[in-house]
Amino acid sequence: MQELAPEDLQRLLTASLAARGHAHVPYSHYAVGAAVLDEHGTVHSGCNIENAAYPQGWCAETTAIGAMVMAGGKRAKAVLVSGPGPDTITPCGGCRQKLREFGDDNLLVIAADPSGIKQTWTLGQLLPASFGPDHLKTTDQNTRKP
Ligand code: THU
Repeated sequence: MQELAPEDLQRLLTASLAARGHAHVPYSHYAVGAAVLDEHGTVHSGCNIENAAYPQGWCAETTAIGAMVMAGGKRAKAVLVSGPGPDTITPCGGCRQKLREFGDDNLLVIAADPSGIKQTWTLGQLLPASFGPDHLKTTDQNTRKP
Protein backbone atom coordinates (compact mmCIF):
# COMPACT_ATOMS: atom_id res chain seq x y z
CA MET A 1 0.00 0.00 0.00
CA GLN A 2 1.45 3.39 -0.94
CA GLU A 3 2.34 5.92 1.74
CA LEU A 4 0.39 9.12 2.19
CA ALA A 5 2.24 12.09 3.71
CA PRO A 6 0.84 12.83 7.19
CA GLU A 7 0.07 16.42 6.16
CA ASP A 8 -1.94 15.19 3.16
CA LEU A 9 -3.88 12.81 5.39
CA GLN A 10 -4.64 15.66 7.76
CA ARG A 11 -5.76 17.93 4.90
CA LEU A 12 -8.05 15.19 3.59
CA LEU A 13 -9.54 14.55 7.02
CA THR A 14 -10.17 18.23 7.68
CA ALA A 15 -11.75 18.80 4.26
CA SER A 16 -13.91 15.68 4.45
CA LEU A 17 -15.26 16.44 7.91
CA ALA A 18 -15.96 20.04 6.88
CA ALA A 19 -17.84 18.78 3.81
CA ARG A 20 -20.03 16.61 6.08
CA GLY A 21 -21.30 19.84 7.54
CA HIS A 22 -22.83 20.74 4.16
CA ALA A 23 -24.59 17.40 3.62
CA HIS A 24 -28.20 17.71 2.48
CA VAL A 25 -29.66 14.68 4.23
CA PRO A 26 -33.28 15.38 5.26
CA TYR A 27 -34.28 11.74 4.62
CA SER A 28 -31.48 9.49 5.90
CA HIS A 29 -29.91 12.01 8.31
CA TYR A 30 -26.67 10.22 7.44
CA ALA A 31 -24.21 13.00 6.63
CA VAL A 32 -21.20 12.01 4.54
CA GLY A 33 -18.16 13.99 3.45
CA ALA A 34 -15.56 13.04 0.88
CA ALA A 35 -12.22 14.60 0.00
CA VAL A 36 -10.11 13.61 -3.00
CA LEU A 37 -6.36 14.26 -3.35
CA ASP A 38 -5.50 14.80 -7.02
CA GLU A 39 -2.25 14.46 -8.98
CA HIS A 40 -1.36 18.11 -8.26
CA GLY A 41 -1.70 17.65 -4.50
CA THR A 42 -4.94 19.62 -4.46
CA VAL A 43 -7.82 18.48 -2.26
CA HIS A 44 -11.42 18.58 -3.55
CA SER A 45 -14.35 17.92 -1.27
CA GLY A 46 -18.04 17.15 -1.47
CA CYS A 47 -21.06 16.02 0.54
CA ASN A 48 -24.02 13.76 -0.11
CA ILE A 49 -27.09 15.50 -1.54
CA GLU A 50 -30.42 13.73 -1.12
CA ASN A 51 -33.64 14.41 -2.99
CA ALA A 52 -37.37 14.09 -2.26
CA ALA A 53 -37.45 11.76 -5.26
CA TYR A 54 -35.15 9.39 -3.39
CA PRO A 55 -33.23 7.74 -6.27
CA GLN A 56 -32.15 11.17 -7.52
CA GLY A 57 -29.91 11.78 -4.52
CA TRP A 58 -26.18 11.20 -4.78
CA CYS A 59 -23.17 10.37 -2.66
CA ALA A 60 -20.45 12.59 -1.22
CA GLU A 61 -17.80 10.88 -3.37
CA THR A 62 -19.71 11.87 -6.49
CA THR A 63 -19.78 15.53 -5.48
CA ALA A 64 -16.05 15.47 -4.67
CA ILE A 65 -15.16 13.82 -7.99
CA GLY A 66 -17.18 16.49 -9.81
CA ALA A 67 -15.30 19.20 -7.92
CA MET A 68 -11.97 17.63 -8.88
CA VAL A 69 -12.89 17.41 -12.55
CA MET A 70 -14.14 21.01 -12.62
CA ALA A 71 -10.87 22.20 -11.06
CA GLY A 72 -8.83 20.42 -13.74
CA GLY A 73 -7.78 17.36 -11.72
CA LYS A 74 -7.41 14.22 -13.80
CA ARG A 75 -6.22 11.55 -11.36
CA ALA A 76 -7.23 10.64 -7.82
CA LYS A 77 -4.42 9.55 -5.49
CA ALA A 78 -6.46 9.14 -2.32
CA VAL A 79 -10.01 9.68 -1.13
CA LEU A 80 -11.13 10.08 2.45
CA VAL A 81 -14.79 9.38 3.18
CA SER A 82 -16.24 10.41 6.52
CA GLY A 83 -19.50 9.31 8.05
CA PRO A 84 -21.13 9.81 11.43
CA GLY A 85 -19.68 6.65 13.01
CA PRO A 86 -19.47 4.57 15.07
CA ASP A 87 -19.71 1.95 12.32
CA THR A 88 -16.96 2.34 9.74
CA ILE A 89 -18.29 3.89 6.54
CA THR A 90 -17.41 2.20 3.29
CA PRO A 91 -18.02 3.58 -0.20
CA CYS A 92 -21.01 2.16 -2.04
CA GLY A 93 -20.50 0.05 -5.13
CA GLY A 94 -21.43 2.85 -7.51
CA CYS A 95 -18.88 5.19 -5.94
CA ARG A 96 -16.17 2.54 -6.13
CA GLN A 97 -16.75 2.38 -9.87
CA LYS A 98 -16.83 6.19 -10.19
CA LEU A 99 -13.49 6.37 -8.36
CA ARG A 100 -12.08 3.71 -10.71
CA GLU A 101 -12.49 6.14 -13.58
CA PHE A 102 -9.86 8.44 -12.03
CA GLY A 103 -7.71 6.01 -10.05
CA ASP A 104 -6.13 2.60 -10.35
CA ASP A 105 -5.88 -0.34 -7.94
CA ASN A 106 -3.43 1.68 -5.78
CA LEU A 107 -5.86 4.50 -5.06
CA LEU A 108 -6.10 4.83 -1.28
CA VAL A 109 -9.60 4.79 0.16
CA ILE A 110 -9.67 5.97 3.76
CA ALA A 111 -12.68 5.77 6.07
CA ALA A 112 -13.13 8.16 8.96
CA ASP A 113 -15.64 9.67 11.34
CA PRO A 114 -15.49 12.60 13.76
CA SER A 115 -13.31 10.49 16.09
CA GLY A 116 -10.63 10.11 13.38
CA ILE A 117 -9.35 7.60 10.82
CA LYS A 118 -10.99 4.17 11.03
CA GLN A 119 -9.67 2.06 8.16
CA THR A 120 -7.70 2.23 4.91
CA TRP A 121 -8.04 0.09 1.80
CA THR A 122 -6.84 0.26 -1.76
CA LEU A 123 -9.42 0.55 -4.51
CA GLY A 124 -8.11 -2.78 -5.78
CA GLN A 125 -9.20 -4.37 -2.50
CA LEU A 126 -12.66 -2.78 -2.65
CA LEU A 127 -13.23 -3.32 -6.37
CA PRO A 128 -11.21 -6.29 -7.57
CA ALA A 129 -11.04 -7.26 -11.24
CA SER A 130 -12.58 -3.91 -12.12
CA PHE A 131 -13.74 -2.66 -15.49
CA GLY A 132 -11.89 0.56 -16.30
CA PRO A 133 -10.93 3.04 -18.99
CA ASP A 134 -8.28 0.71 -20.42
CA HIS A 135 -11.01 -1.66 -21.53
CA LEU A 136 -12.15 0.99 -24.01
CA LYS A 137 -8.75 2.21 -25.13
CA THR A 138 -8.89 1.28 -28.81
CA THR A 139 -11.66 2.52 -31.06
CA ASP A 140 -11.05 -0.53 -33.22
CA GLN A 141 -12.16 -2.77 -30.35
CA ASN A 142 -15.27 -0.70 -29.78
CA THR A 143 -16.43 -0.73 -33.35
CA ARG A 144 -15.57 -4.35 -34.15
CA LYS A 145 -18.58 -6.65 -34.30
CA PRO A 146 -18.38 -9.76 -32.06
N1 THU B 1 -23.58 7.77 1.11
C1 THU B 1 -22.51 8.48 0.66
O1 THU B 1 -22.60 9.69 0.43
N2 THU B 1 -21.35 7.82 0.46
C2 THU B 1 -21.13 6.53 0.76
O2 THU B 1 -20.02 6.04 0.57
C3 THU B 1 -22.20 5.71 1.36
C4 THU B 1 -23.54 6.35 1.39
C5 THU B 1 -24.82 8.48 1.34
C6 THU B 1 -25.94 8.23 0.38
C7 THU B 1 -27.15 8.63 1.19
O3 THU B 1 -27.33 10.03 1.09
C8 THU B 1 -26.74 8.31 2.62
O4 THU B 1 -25.34 8.15 2.62
C9 THU B 1 -27.39 7.06 3.17
O5 THU B 1 -27.22 5.99 2.30
